[in-house]
Order: sequence, then structure tokens, then C-alpha cells
Amino acid sequence: MKTKVGIIGGGPSGLLLGQLLDLIGIDNIVLEKHSREYVLGRIRAGVLEHGFAELMREAQCGDRMDAEGEIHDGFYIAEGGNKRRVDLAGHTGGNSVMVYGQTELTRDLYEAREKMDGNIIHNVEDVKLHDLKSDAPHITYSDGTDTIRIDCDYIIGADGFHGVSRKSIPADVLVEHEKVYPFGWLGVLSRTKPVSPELIYAKSDRGFALCSLRSQVLSRYYIQVPLTETAADWSDDAFWTELKARLPKDVADGLETGPSIEKSIAPLRSFVAEPMRYGSLFLAGDAAHIFPPTGARGLNSAGSDIYYLYHALMDHYKDGDDTGLDSYSEKALARIWKAQRFSWWMTTLLHKLPDNTSYENKLQQTDMDYLFSSEAALSSLAENYVGLPF
Ligand code: FAD
Ligand code: DHB
Repeated sequence: MKTKVGIIGGGPSGLLLGQLLDLIGIDNIVLEKHSREYVLGRIRAGVLEHGFAELMREAQCGDRMDAEGEIHDGFYIAEGGNKRRVDLAGHTGGNSVMVYGQTELTRDLYEAREKMDGNIIHNVEDVKLHDLKSDAPHITYSDGTDTIRIDCDYIIGADGFHGVSRKSIPADVLVEHEKVYPFGWLGVLSRTKPVSPELIYAKSDRGFALCSLRSQVLSRYYIQVPLTETAADWSDDAFWTELKARLPKDVADGLETGPSIEKSIAPLRSFVAEPMRYGSLFLAGDAAHIFPPTGARGLNSAGSDIYYLYHALMDHYKDGDDTGLDSYSEKALARIWKAQRFSWWMTTLLHKLPDNTSYENKLQQTDMDYLFSSEAALSSLAENYVGLPF
């Protein structure tokens, strides 16, 4: 087989790029390790930057998002029995975020690819990347019986943190930066009315908690837990009791509980691999970087990579201009590192940090006090949360 752009990974990054490229007539194939049902079974991110939502519209995948997603122009930070609002719109000249789940967004992308007869091959095995530094790069994979070869101009590694693409860059070229946090988030999805119309990020002596939502009848809650625990250790009752204990009393009193329909633990990790380009291979999304979920940067940063790649490939194929491809790694990483700084800061501000000294705990408290005493600090939080410009 032959195509212009071979995309490894059918998560949001790979699907969005495939769709955008197809719309401007750039031939591509997406290779996905799992079935569509498996990909859609994963409950992940829920908050989209304005820029990501715009990219979904450009990909002609924004209709359901605009109809069913919720525009949020603020959120709350709770601490010590109180909650204080961060006015996103007020601090950013009217900017906001869209609350719309990654599962729904991925479903919309699959449906759009289907309508356009997009080429997505599921259940591929043993994907390998070849001759990345040559002018004849290619991918091979097994369909369970035969080995199939795809020749392409460019390969996009959008296969997530555990994918094969990043590992195909020689170890003496790739530099990896990592910080692993000694806790995770236990997440519960429940068919209950959200406790608050806007998200609540809660700092408490018992650990962090987040009240989020997918719709007015579907809630998503998280609590910080030690890495030694598993989702099976937590009954629904134990989860609701602990969540309530971490929220201001008036919020806890209004919390509607119910059976969980999904419960899982995500460890918190910060990770960046550099460079994001090696020959004809370009890394995008979780394949190149991981964010602790606190600032909702993971999916959004995947979106900014796709924005840069889409424009770079468009310039290459339409105008023979390679500036975007040549500057991709540098440009994408500059934004990624700012998002890393923000997610690290927000994680450090809001979690119970078991290794902290009393000095560091005092600084953490001062950071919070400063935030709500300074319009400049609130503006900095707001401009990062809604997403820095591409
Ligand atoms: P992925 O979504 O990981 O997609 C990569 C795809 O590649 C997968 O479908 C995978 O099956 C496929 N693949 C892997 N290996 C191969 C291979 N060898 N060949 C072919 N295909 C392959 N972000 C937030 O902002 N908020 C959150 O609350 C949040 N929660 C998260 C919870 C979990 C458990 C995880 C893992 C991530 C979470 N994230 C969250 C991050 C966010 O979901 C990711 O940033 C986003 O999914 C990145 O999209 P992606 O397409 O780059 O990678
Ligand atoms: C959600 C996840 C996040 O990491 C976040 O910061 C906000 C919302 C969510 O899953 O709804």
C-alpha cells in the first residue's frame, strides 16, 4: 500500500489529523491497535480549550459538541470549607472552555471518518517503522496472518505513551524528561446530577478532589489516592464518603450519589520526549508527552500538536513550503513546556504532597493565599487554563 501520511494510533490525535488532512485532499491511513469499541470504552479527559473546540469545528466534527457540550466561563477552587470562583472570562477578555468528554469527541471523529470513507485499519499487530532517515520511509504491520507494508512520505506517531513510535527513535537522539508523582486519581463516573454547574477543584487535608461532569445527568468525580491502592479496593460507598469529606460542607450536603458506571485509577506523571521529529517521523500527543490531569492539559496539548502538524503538512503539500515541518518540534515543544509548567504548578498547588517538608507546605499555602489576593495571579491561572495561543 502507498499513502502520503501514515498515522499510527487511532486516538483523538490520529483521528483528528486524519480527518483534517482528508478534508484538504491529503491522502492518509490510520493504523489502530485496538477495536473501535475498545478505544471508545476509555473514559478520559473532559475539558476542551477554545482552540481545540475550533479545530474540531474546522474538522467538521463540531456539531454535536456545540449542541451537547457546555461552555464554562469559570470554575471553583475549594479549600478549608470555602469555595472561590476563578472567573475565566473576566480574566481572559471573554475566553472560556468547553466541557465535552473525550469519549464523545472520539466517537464524533470516528463517525466523521466513516462518512468520508477515511482509511482506518483496526486491530493491527506488530507495527514497525522503517528507514525513517531515508527518502523511502515505510511502516509494516501484521493483520494476524500477513505482514503488510505501507510506503509513505511521512509517519505520524500518535500512538500514545506506550506506543511503538517514540521507541523507534534511537536512544542517543531522544531525551526523556520525567516526574512521577507518588499518588493517582481514582475516578468515578455516575448517572447523577452534577453537584455544581461549574467544576470544583478541592484542596483538603485528606487530599485533592475534583467535581466534574459530562452533562447535567452524568457526573465525573476524582479523589487523590496513594499508588498502593486499586480501584477494586474502593466500594462506591467508600468513594462517596471520602469525596464528601474533602469538600466544603454545603457542597458535600448537596452531593447526589449513585452507583458508579466506571471506576479507575490514573497515576499522575509529567513526561516530555525531545525532539518530536526524527527524519520523516513526527510524534504527536501522548506519544511525546504526558501531563498530570490537574490542569486538563493532556488532550488539549495533543490538539496543539495536531494544529501545528496539520498546518505544516498543508504548507508542504499545497505550497512546497517545509518551514512548518522543519520547525515543528521546536514550536510544539515550546507550547508543551508551558503547559507542563502549568499542570505541574496546579498539581503542586492542590494536592496533598506526602514528601513535602513543613517549609514546602507553608509555601504551598502561601501560593494559594497569593492566588486569591492578586488579579495578576488569577489572570495567569485563567490564561493558562483556557489555553495559550497556538
Ligand atoms: P491516546 O488517546 O493514548 O491514543 C493512542 C492510540 O494509539 C490508542 O488508541 C492506542 O490503542 C493506539 N496504539 C498504541 N500503540 C499502538 C501501536 N503500536 N500501533 C497502533 N496503534 C497503537 N487528559 C485530560 O486532559 N484530563 C483527564 O482527566 C485525563 N484522564 C486520563 C486518564 C487516563 C487513564 C489516561 C491514560 C489519560 C488521561 N488523560 C487525561 C490524557 C488524555 O486522555 C490524553 O492526553 C489523550 O488521550 C491523548 O490522545 P492521543 O491520541 O495522543 O493518545
Ligand atoms: C476532568 C479531568 C481533568 O483532569 C480536569 O482537570 C478537569 C476535568 C474530567 O475528566 O472531567
